[in-house]
Amino acid sequence: MSKSVLRTVIGGLSISNPLMNASGVLSNTPGLWRRLYESGAGAIVTKSVGLTEREPYPGPNVVEIECGLLNAMGLPNPGVEILCEELKAFKMENPDIIVIVSVFGANADEFTRVASSVEEAGADAIELNLSCPHAKGYGAEIGSNPKTVKEVVSNVKSVVKVPVFPKLTPNVTSIVEIADAALSGGADGIVAINSVKGIRINVELMRPVLGNVYGGYTGIGILPIGIRAVWDIYEEFECDIIGVGGIESYKHVLEYILAGAKAVQIGTALYKRGLHLFREIKDSLEKWLQEHNINELNDIIGLSHRR
Ligand SMILES: Cc1cc2nc3c(=O)[nH]c(=O)nc-3n(C[C@H](O)[C@H](O)[C@H](O)COP(=O)(O)O)c2cc1C
Repeated sequence: MSKSVLRTVIGGLSISNPLMNASGVLSNTPGLWRRLYESGAGAIVTKSVGLTEREPYPGPNVVEIECGLLNAMGLPNPGVEILCEELKAFKMENPDIIVIVSVFGANADEFTRVASSVEEAGADAIELNLSCPHAKGYGAEIGSNPKTVKEVVSNVKSVVKVPVFPKLTPNVTSIVEIADAALSGGADGIVAINSVKGIRINVELMRPVLGNVYGGYTGIGILPIGIRAVWDIYEEFECDIIGVGGIESYKHVLEYILAGAKAVQIGTALYKRGLHLFREIKDSLEKWLQEHNINELNDIIGLSHRR
């Protein structure tokens, strides 16, 4: 079966297969970007980068729990200048590897400055982190308000030419309302979802397991929440969607595609099981399509809405 059966186009960006890593779960070095690509990812997503360097929150900041991970990293990153140097060098050596740079900011102006720098350094698309559930003044605090979401997206869109994909939080009453704001700001596609806000308690220590108390829950436990978000957004807008949350197998990818996603990202499962998961899932998707006499993955995007 030809490899093109998995090709997908998201916000005008054509990628050889719909699988990407989810921002931030693994480390953020150019060496890792190359390994992700060699392992079969159709595009690479960087960890979220902001205007200036940030240190991680005091630990523990990642804890394994029954159905996934609970993390509060605190958006650690080297700052946009260093990321841009690394990205420029990386794209010079690897012009064919599609890199989506995840950016964050405290307001529309910061988002715009970071986005414009990373575009200049060679980003093929920009993901807007409007959804980190635990960083004060960032992420979901901005991404829960439709007005600020529209403002951030439209300001970024006014300065960059590459596709812009806002990543939304599930920790709101209506993710459809937030997606609406993002799309009316000019988003080229929606990424759904970021982690689900949560707390666990260590009963022996009688205190929260995370240094930051609140964290983001990820992994298999959030699969139905991610699929519901993609379903609701697709049902309303039929826009381009990148589905994220809980994917561990090719069947989970198919669920997202049938719910309306054109591409997907995998985070916790890569952390727990390793990068070989990309090849495993790609091979299984091709086999499944062949067994079901389906010409290409594109043919079943959103299909469950019509049955
Ligand atoms: C340790 C860790 C760090 C993360 N860092 C970021 C980040 O920097 N930016 C972001 O948008 N999402 C971040 N996320 C959220 C993931 O990109 C993804 O949305 C989430 O993990 C759900 O997917 P999964 O269930 O496949 O892990 C992080 C998640 C984890 C577990």
